Amino acid sequence: MRISLIAAMSENRAIGLKGRLPWPHLPNDWANFFKVTEGCRMIMGRKSYDTPDRLWSKAGNFVITRQADFPLDEGFERASSLEEALELCKEDKEVFVIGGEEIFRQALPLADCIHLTLVHGVFEGDAFFPAFNETDFHIKSRQEFPADSSHLYSYEFLVYERKH
Ligand SMILES: NC(=O)c1ccc[n+]([C@@H]2O[C@H](COP(=O)([O-])OP(=O)(O)OC[C@H]3O[C@@H](n4cnc5c(N)ncnc54)[C@H](OP(=O)(O)O)[C@@H]3O)[C@@H](O)[C@H]2O)c1
Repeated sequence: MRISLIAAMSENRAIGLKGRLPWPHLPNDWANFFKVTEGCRMIMGRKSYDTPDRLWSKAGNFVITRQADFPLDEGFERASSLEEALELCKEDKEVFVIGGEEIFRQALPLADCIHLTLVHGVFEGDAFFPAFNETDFHIKSRQEFPADSSHLYSYEFLVYERKH
């Protein structure tokens, strides 16, 4: 099973503020998220599940929580740790870890691939994408996009692949 992470962060590594994205909606980033993750199951932390901007996969979703009785909507399954969630989808070709900070921190050492949107701006945040050892990865692709009428900030899609 291939373990991929997907995240969007600002230049100061912010990924969230009070449960929302720190920047105004960037439609092309969400379109890219759904294109990249299509058909794959997702793993998320309970706080990311609990946000109004919650993202999810039609293929299935795992929510990591220590709360044994945490109620979940249809299409979401509880896992008591990242390791348990990964075990539950070990037969999958690829699984996406979609955040937030706590879960990214635990998943980064295991990641084969990181899809990172870099939003060109500095934003206040209370959740951040953890710094990782970029020398363990090579940049497989980089696509840059200017700001336009529906994207207030310029941004780029980076794909990091772990060196083997
Ligand atoms: N920009 C992006 O790409 C992106 C993506 C996703 C999320 N976000 C943002 O990130 C923020 C949330 O991140 P966060 O770090 O605060 O929370 P999080 O990682 O989404 O969830 C943390 C929760 O996961 C559970 N958890 C973590 N480690 C665990 C373990 N080892 N075993 C069992 N349960 C574990 C705990 O849930 P319990 O407390 O229930 O036990 C913990 O409170 C939000 O602002 C969200 O909008 C941004």
